[in-house]
Amino acid sequence: MTHPRDTAGVSVAAAAKLLVERGLADPDAAVVLGSGLSSFADGLGDALVVPYSDIPGFPRTAVSGHRGAVIGCNLGGKRTLVFSGRVHHYEGCSPADVTFSVLLAAELGASVFVITNASGGIDPGFDVGDLMLISDQIAAVTGQQRLPPGTFRMVGAYSERLRAVARSAAADAKIRLREGVYLGSLGPTYETPAEIRMARLMGASAVGMSTVSEVQAAHSRGLEVMGMALVTNVPLPGRFHGTTHEEVLEAGRRGAGALVSLVSSTLEKL
Ligand code: HPA
Repeated sequence: MTHPRDTAGVSVAAAAKLLVERGLADPDAAVVLGSGLSSFADGLGDALVVPYSDIPGFPRTAVSGHRGAVIGCNLGGKRTLVFSGRVHHYEGCSPADVTFSVLLAAELGASVFVITNASGGIDPGFDVGDLMLISDQIAAVTGQQRLPPGTFRMVGAYSERLRAVARSAAADAKIRLREGVYLGSLGPTYETPAEIRMARLMGASAVGMSTVSEVQAAHSRGLEVMGMALVTNVPLPGRFHGTTHEEVLEAGRRGAGALVSLVSSTLEKL
């Protein structure tokens, strides 16, 4: 299978070479941090930080709340590459840019890929601050990937094994862990009340503007994927005046610690 970055492929190889030179070879796992969740990165001890701007070919993020660095650290006893900051389709980024971190993690030999994001809760039972393990996805951005139909086989993309371990880690820590389907919208606007009703009818439990393309690429590369969404807002039709980016960032700052500790304790149990 050919991926757009493979044909330009030198990019990923050159980026991987730089990270190996900086001491980030042979990771066990990669973790991508979503909007406002980079406070996660601030508390990491003995970390090796490589700014995205040092990495050849690495797409840059302009959205506030994203830090923009790869951090090599020990998370839950596993050698982990934390990608702090991501680019989105709504920034005009190509599928190749959006999936660059995934291909880089695969190139360096990571076998577990953890993707996190900030999401709007579509399930009316959700509360701000809830963590949701992603069981499946609806890729409303499909069509962006200029690849032959069927390139990505998505059944079972969110690893049942990792979900079982995450549930057990959450139970140990007495964290209430939700589980459900993530709807990946193109953004950049937050949903209208009509779109929220549509998302609920489609069977989504949470909605956000990222994740789905990365998971397509990760699953197609044979990485074992876990997705964890932090619910930063619950836009219930009827009592909803519009989500703001500030509200999402603030809830992200408050919820990042719980999300990170659950990711860490999940990795520890692997
Ligand atoms: N919609 C889309 N993306 C989001 C939301 C939302 O309500 N909250 C955080 N990211």
